[in-house]
Amino acid sequence: MPVAAMPVIDVPTPSRTYRVTIADGALAAIARVLDEVRAPARRFVVSSPLVWRLHGPLLARALGGVEPILVPDGERFKQLATVTRIYDALVRANADRATTLITFGGGVIGDMAGFAAATYLRGIAVVHAPTTLLAQVDSAIGGKVGVNHPQGKNLIGAFHQPHAVVVDPVVLATLPRREFRAGIYEIIKYGMTSSAALFDRLGRDRTAIFARTPEVLTPIIAESCRIKADVVVKDERESGLRRILNFGHTAGHAIEAVTKYRRFRHGEAIGYGMLVAAQLARARGALAESDRKALADLIASLGPLPPIADLSATQMLEAMQHDKKVVAGKLHFVLPTAVGATTIVDDVVEKELRAALKQVGFAK
Ligand SMILES: NC(=O)c1ccc[n+]([C@@H]2O[C@H](COP(=O)([O-])OP(=O)(O)OC[C@H]3O[C@@H](n4cnc5c(N)ncnc54)[C@H](O)[C@@H]3O)[C@@H](O)[C@H]2O)c1
Ligand SMILES: [Zn+2]
Repeated sequence: MPVAAMPVIDVPTPSRTYRVTIADGALAAIARVLDEVRAPARRFVVSSPLVWRLHGPLLARALGGVEPILVPDGERFKQLATVTRIYDALVRANADRATTLITFGGGVIGDMAGFAAATYLRGIAVVHAPTTLLAQVDSAIGGKVGVNHPQGKNLIGAFHQPHAVVVDPVVLATLPRREFRAGIYEIIKYGMTSSAALFDRLGRDRTAIFARTPEVLTPIIAESCRIKADVVVKDERESGLRRILNFGHTAGHAIEAVTKYRRFRHGEAIGYGMLVAAQLARARGALAESDRKALADLIASLGPLPPIADLSATQMLEAMQHDKKVVAGKLHFVLPTAVGATTIVDDVVEKELRAALKQVGFAK
């Protein structure tokens, strides 16, 4: 597809306006995109050994040759020590302000290399080329970058909007099924919070989505990017509206924490987190049972989630107290009010939270 014909979404945040290009084959045109946005001329790619082995040749060809900076990309490597390796490589190569860092990998690479770009020389240009479904629909857009601290996830970070984002769904062909599915839960989140039409499409086209049929999958990715971009533009620094994207994340992050980030993929934990929030909303009479059930059925239709019966509501409550979403001691919950609509509350009390956790399947 010629670059001019590729679907784009412009993201005019207060700190920078940038373009997200979403098309099968978009990576082949990345050099054109970089020129269009006047990305500084010295270009470095940060990727992981696996992603580079699978898709590096395609990107290298598109860029007319490039030496990648390869760093490991598991969640446990998302830490300052890995970012330091990126700094080291940049210093060694005498990278100056006229440098663009291209991140090429999943959310871990995007967050780490994005953080390196936000801080190296007090900030150089970054372009994200996300390679997981989760990164394509979520982490590459919005400018949040950072790393984990041993005491908690994403405790160290910055806002650093990219110069451009290039989303090429073709690279998803090699993504393991579990990783692919983990990304779908975040798309369900967009549907449930912001678009009943997207929600319905996920149910209707599930088979084609899982077959990664481009004509079905690519428009769904584009719609998800549009929703994320929309929210980010209205609330770049997450002081209000952007918090709706935390739907499912209050309980979801707690699940990840109590299982030490080992049992669940992030999206899977969000699957349960959305069920907890929906149950809370249902019990308050804020959400119709039919809508709660529609969400539960869609999540169940994707297949089984890792077990939670050995995790207790008490552990979960404890973990939620440590979440970043606790503001002045109050736990914020994004509650659905219908398929495609939400409200944010901060008055959830322990008793109702325990009841909701139990309903979803947690132990006492
Ligand atoms: N910045 C944000 O706004 C934001 C939003 C959501 C999530 N995140 C972060 O994103 C991270 C999770 O990202 P993720 O789910 O992409 O995980 P990930 O980056 O760990 O990637 C998952 C796995 O997929 C592999 N992989 C990547 N692309 C592949 C491909 N095309 N084919 C085959 N294998 C491939 C990776 O090597 C890795 O093993 C978390 O750290 C989370 O905090 C950030
Ligand atoms: Zn998430």
